[in-house]
Amino acid sequence: MSQPHSLTPTPTRRGQDSPADLPPVVAWEQLGPQFFEVWGRPHGTVMPEHLSVYGPSGSGKTYFITYVMTERARLRGTHAVVVATKKADRTLTEAGWPVIKDWPPDYGQNQVIWWARGGLSDQQQAEQSKRVHMMMHTLWQEDANKIIAWDELPYVSLDLGLGRQVATYYREGRSLGITNIAALQRPAGVPRHVHSEVSWTVAFRPKDQDDRDRVAEILGNRKYYRDVLESLDREKRQFVIKRELTGEAFISSLPGTRPVLPDSKDQPGNTSMS
Ligand SMILES: Nc1ncnc2c1ncn2[C@@H]1O[C@H](COP(=O)(O)OP(=O)(O)OP(=O)(O)O)[C@@H](O)[C@H]1O
Ligand SMILES: [Mg+2]
Repeated sequence: MSQPHSLTPTPTRRGQDSPADLPPVVAWEQLGPQFFEVWGRPHGTVMPEHLSVYGPSGSGKTYFITYVMTERARLRGTHAVVVATKKADRTLTEAGWPVIKDWPPDYGQNQVIWWARGGLSDQQQAEQSKRVHMMMHTLWQEDANKIIAWDELPYVSLDLGLGRQVATYYREGRSLGITNIAALQRPAGVPRHVHSEVSWTVAFRPKDQDDRDRVAEILGNRKYYRDVLESLDREKRQFVIKRELTGEAFISSLPGTRPVLPDSKDQPGNTSMS
């Protein structure tokens, strides 16, 4: 197998050569193109690479997910679905993707937000669980070739009771061409595969020390990543992104202007979650 390409963006600030040396801070304009070059093509050939995003409420997880999925669709035409389960979410609707309420999407709807509506009652939640389970079942086939983003994966695993299915998606989905992306407020409430089977980990500054320690552990060297996470500037919406294959890590932040789907005007469906 060939060696993976390293990412070589030009840092805007270099860390010091001390044990507390921080990953370089890199502008997304530099890092982004290199990330999209290698994400899902670790050795130059196509291989799905799961990605998890950790951060407290409002840190930018949904923005990050929809940003990278839109860009990926723009660059490579990747088919994708965002599974929205919890509530109407402005960051999701503002992504400009068509929102569908019934699964599956129509022919030609290659990038959709699937709003698997639920509710607070036991019956509504049971029905929602059934719908998500059915969607996971229908997608589970040879050459599924899709990115599936779970906006609030702990809700799917715990509240909807689909932890076993989620674990299978993470463990075995790659061989079917399935890339899982998850947003999590903290590393809890999901099967351990969601942390261990991912190729890319993204983390915004955690809310408190408990979360910081747990996210640092997921990232690898707990002591080192505690310092890294502490260094992140919340105002600038900075995150650290770590690539498992090479151990490379960078600090960056996304631009305030989002990319748009290439053929969003042609995609059938509306973008409302009401
Ligand atoms: N890089 C960015 N530039 C400009 N605005 C951003 C950026 N990242 C996030 N935002 C904005 O910040 C707000 C919160 O972001 P987002 O909804 O992605 O947070 P979240 O982590 O998904 O929160 P929650 O856990 O509550 O779902 C949104 O209004 C979003 O548009
Ligand atoms: Mg969100």
